Amino acid sequence: MEEKKQPSTGGSHFVGKKDELIEAKRSFRTLEGRDVLIIHHQGGFYAMDSYCYHAGGTLQNGDIEEIDGKLCIICPKHKYKISLAKGECIYKGTDPREKPPVPRWYSKGVKQRTHTVTEINGDIYLKLSEDTNWIESDYYQGEKGKVERAKAEAAEKKTS
Ligand code: FES
Repeated sequence: MEEKKQPSTGGSHFVGKKDELIEAKRSFRTLEGRDVLIIHHQGGFYAMDSYCYHAGGTLQNGDIEEIDGKLCIICPKHKYKISLAKGECIYKGTDPREKPPVPRWYSKGVKQRTHTVTEINGDIYLKLSEDTNWIESDYYQGEKGKVERAKAEAAEKKTS
């Protein structure tokens, strides 16, 4: 019979004690080769791919704000707003057909892969997303994306 590492948690990974993760607010973990950011904010846990889908910015230090009723992390690099719950990118725009055009929040759809966080008796587990569709943040988890992230970091260091 095939042996599984964590048969009782169904593919979930233990990522830390609840109290520790609350105190840390943002925690970085690598699970099955995937770099994931775990966030505790306003009493809730969230998890998403660690690098912004747009150009691989590190989301770990992004501010969190409620925008249009959704908690969003704001990528420090170019300020894209990504919802914590679904990984949806939202932006403010105007519809030129409206007279006068009124700025509103629009969605670009799910761009950042999010993962499932659960608590069992004070222990926090993370289950990686099993959505088989390509989600744009997947790119920066792959080898090509890693090379690009490294190049961008080196270029930033040169200019700073
Ligand atoms: S890399 Fe995140 S907004 Fe551009």
